[in-house]
Amino acid sequence: MERTLGCGHLTTEHEGQTVALAGWMQRRRDHGGLIFVDLRDRTGIVQLVFHPEQADNFSVAEGLSREDVLWIKGNVVHRGEDNINENLPTGHVEIQVENIDVLNNAETPPFLVEDDSNADEAVRLEYRYVDLRRPTMQQGLKLRHKVFLDIRNFFDENGFWEIETPTFTKSTPEGARDYLVPSRTFPGSFFALPQSPQLFKQILMCSGVEKYFQIARCYRDEDLRADRQPEFTQLDLEISFMTDPDPMWTMLEGMMKALFKKHLDVDIETPFARLPYSESMDRFGSDKPDMRFGMELQPLTDVVSSSEFRVFSGTAKDGGVIKGIHAPGCATYNRNTLDGLEDMAKERGAGGLMWIKLTEEGPQSPVAKFIEEDILNKIIETLGGKQGDLLLLCAGATSIVNDALGTLRLEVAKRENLIDDGWKFAWVYDFPMFQKDEDTGRLVSEHHPFTSPKAEDIHLLESDPLKARANGYDLALNGNELGSGSIRIHRPETQAKIFELLGITDEEADVKFGFFLKALKYGAPPHGGIALGLDRLIMLMAGHTSLRDVIAFPKTNTAFCPLTEAPIPATEQQLADLYLNPMEIPSVIGD
Ligand code: AMO
Repeated sequence: MERTLGCGHLTTEHEGQTVALAGWMQRRRDHGGLIFVDLRDRTGIVQLVFHPEQADNFSVAEGLSREDVLWIKGNVVHRGEDNINENLPTGHVEIQVENIDVLNNAETPPFLVEDDSNADEAVRLEYRYVDLRRPTMQQGLKLRHKVFLDIRNFFDENGFWEIETPTFTKSTPEGARDYLVPSRTFPGSFFALPQSPQLFKQILMCSGVEKYFQIARCYRDEDLRADRQPEFTQLDLEISFMTDPDPMWTMLEGMMKALFKKHLDVDIETPFARLPYSESMDRFGSDKPDMRFGMELQPLTDVVSSSEFRVFSGTAKDGGVIKGIHAPGCATYNRNTLDGLEDMAKERGAGGLMWIKLTEEGPQSPVAKFIEEDILNKIIETLGGKQGDLLLLCAGATSIVNDALGTLRLEVAKRENLIDDGWKFAWVYDFPMFQKDEDTGRLVSEHHPFTSPKAEDIHLLESDPLKARANGYDLALNGNELGSGSIRIHRPETQAKIFELLGITDEEADVKFGFFLKALKYGAPPHGGIALGLDRLIMLMAGHTSLRDVIAFPKTNTAFCPLTEAPIPATEQQLADLYLNPMEIPSVIGD
């Protein structure tokens, strides 16, 4: 079928030409004996005009419905000065239709194919093929394609090879549950879909590949949110003989700079901020700091420790901290709002929240009467408070205070519109090696168990493992975690030591990772790498707030696909073929 150009490409340059177009009918308007039809394809919209003198075409136009699929041939004419639509890129011209062919009729779509359609998301996902026709969705798909293409070229130019790793494999520990696939040829055994290509990329380093990358699909059965999907795409990379991540960071900064310039025409600042984890937590209360605004957490322990007020003196004596943030212009917050903020702090584990309003009549606070005047003044001075401002203070264990105030910092900034437009990347490094699992009391890896400890902290592994820092780093963008990586362990004895600290027995390690530990014994070079969440990157670049808006066929927060209705129960025959007893699966025998 002949098509001369895209609907959205027509300009006054085409005046006088005969063009053939194809697309979907967006809208029809009957006006003073003429019929106007908006024809849409992925390039945009153009107006078609039908005249009653051409009776056949006119009657076809009269019968058109939204989303009918059309082919037309016609003449490009100027609309005339009075009829120009400046809101439409093609708004200076229209097409006088000479031939029309209705390629297919459409049922009335469940919502309008327009950017500001406010259809329910469940309906949008069920009728995803209609939803994806909306210009904003098409722009997202196109941006994703173009960025992926540029990433591939960038890594090729930098000497990386793209290598696919298996998706039917063994569990890779990244902190989520596995999606399992039963094996028919090994009854009772299962493949795990990869949570990441982590072990394969390390084995590729043992295989002499030296520089690997992959745009890799990963699968994780975890609690889903707007920025988490059960299957998602990573830019995964690994580099041999890398003992310091700095050159890799610089390379990725160059890639981001080029991508943002080309696709958003934005000059991002490089090098990105670089913060040790402890500094990030101290200043922003988060390991993914949003650095587009200030309102940093300020230490107050030294300022208040001599106070008679028990919350201050007691916390300081017990080794805790007192910190505060300064919310400019927020002295107007009423009791309800302040209670809401306190609830948020409590949800993060804080015992409570102290607030001080700086009003015309002086500082107002339920705790003011307990605080000595000079100390109160010092608090105000340290936090830089002025009349009309609000100060929020929290006391307790360092990690809880940081987390609580970090949460409030973001909340107040959002309420007060303090977050600048723009792009602030930050490398956060020197993460701790381990965290303590509160339920089991056991150590768990902060990143994953293949991350190397910092050389100067190796002595802490035995004596004080929670203090040991790792050669692990994250990339944050505007308060989102965009990527994570580390310099890996490449010596089998160090890997065995880390497994031991994590309470993984030799037998368990052998069953789960024996193949990998073996590879480390046959000449594993030092290596390291990173993985960036590409769905998150595209979501942020496209200005969306949900990954679902940049994934063609996403799942809901319950890991359900409204389009296909997957997952569905297996048939008894399928289960029998896989040696899975249907009697043990309630959804098959139940209702
Ligand atoms: P990590 O688990 O931190 O590291 O994942 C890397 C990045 O992938 C993105 N991401 C997700 N995106 C969407 N939905 C999810 N469920 C999801 N989970 C993670 C995030 C995250 O920063 N193997 C290591 C990397 C390495 O060490 O090289 C890994 O996978 O943007």
